[in-house]
Amino acid sequence: MEGDFERVLISGDAIAARLDELAHEIQRDYPRGPITVVVLMKGALVFAADLMRRLPRLLELECLNVASYHGATTSSGTVEFLDARMPDVRGRRVLVLDDILDTGRTLGAVVGALRGEGAEEVRCGVMLAKERVREHDIRAEYVGFRIEDEFVVGYGLDYRGRYRNLPYIATLRREVVDA
Ligand code: IMP
Ligand code: MG
Repeated sequence: MEGDFERVLISGDAIAARLDELAHEIQRDYPRGPITVVVLMKGALVFAADLMRRLPRLLELECLNVASYHGATTSSGTVEFLDARMPDVRGRRVLVLDDILDTGRTLGAVVGALRGEGAEEVRCGVMLAKERVREHDIRAEYVGFRIEDEFVVGYGLDYRGRYRNLPYIATLRREVVDA
């Protein structure tokens, strides 16, 4: 597996240090009361698990399964909700966590749906945000790292279902993507 990567973009240590800062910002912005964290599966699983444990506060956890059809390395344009029902977020302050903000379609659709479910407030946190023009005008209040518009894997992010378990974020060798 190690031979599949071109370069390490963000090390595990850099991720850990940045998560400490993000957790600090979140604790500062939500000084009291419970929040509901909605984790977008599967990509945000690792990020959410590490971030949540840095938040010593009342918190409820919900998971949402969405498919944005990234079979290859580019977005297809459809966002599908795969769960039988949406989490109950009526009157809640919600923090949506995703792995990466790319076109913005996924977070745009999810934020809209959660507002539709009656959430009092919806904010977004992402591990990565690609520097690009978004197709959906959505902003994340909490961003781990801003990266160039290139395809990355690791720390929850996959290519065809693989590499989510890498403890760092890396780019793939062209041969692996073309294979
Ligand atoms: P968006 O809807 O285009 O913003 O894309 C969000 C989703 O696309 C993420 O939750 C990822 O699953 C996937 N994605 C976008 N860019 C990458 C990448 O560089 N590596 C792996 N997955 C990505
Ligand atoms: Mg994915």
